Amino acid sequence: MIEGGGSGLDAVEQGIRVTESDPGNPSVGLAGIQNAAGIVQLDACIMSGPGHRAGAVGAVSGYRHPISIARRVMETTRHVFLVGEGAEAFAKKHGFEEGPKVTPGQKAAWKKWKAAQAAEEAKAAKAGKPINHDTIALVALMPDGNLFGGCSTSGWGYKIPGRVGDSPIIGSGLYVDNEVGAAGATGIGENVMRYCGSFLVVEYMRQGLHPQEACIETIRRIARMDPKGYDLAINFVAI
Ligand code: GLY
Repeated sequence: MIEGGGSGLDAVEQGIRVTESDPGNPSVGLAGIQNAAGIVQLDACIMSGPGHRAGAVGAVSGYRHPISIARRVMETTRHVFLVGEGAEAFAKKHGFEEGPKVTPGQKAAWKKWKAAQAAEEAKAAKAGKPINHDTIALVALMPDGNLFGGCSTSGWGYKIPGRVGDSPIIGSGLYVDNEVGAAGATGIGENVMRYCGSFLVVEYMRQGLHPQEACIETIRRIARMDPKGYDLAINFVAI
């Protein structure tokens, strides 16, 4: 997109749409793992460095591209974050592409999970980890120096319905400061959003740290503060 002269926002949105469209990705888009009620609920956000603009959606089901809905929130409303039914009504009004709430394969997997729920919950609680999930965080530096970023996920597998993770939270799953840099997070959202992780990475870059060092220092700082130490399963990308 960038080589073809597209905008940074187009590049971020289209890049994330590739992953959201991947039927083999169990963590992003409608092929993601369902929540405990058997529904896939998606979270996403997008940020534009120029103008320091942001848009986000949380707990959206039945739409293929939450990143595009987030962009529309940013570009056409005075709000930053729409969730649940309100976000779905917004998506419907704007004609966004719908998709299945769950696929037959997901339904079968959910039924299997439901049957083994007690054992799985006990195991996951003991390990302090979700059963399986991840995220895409994508950041872009344009030739003119402008920065853009986006983040999208189906979130923690078999989460409590209504649970929203770090991915659509500005400063947690994503942060873009056009004067400094951009950062995004993947991993267990609960462990990122309690520390405003992506904001922290950008703030370390503001202090002069190289992006990689900023990510490492953020993880070190969180690990120092968190009772779980390094067993947090969080990751950052920064530019
Ligand atoms: N990092 C994605 C989530 O925890 O929902």
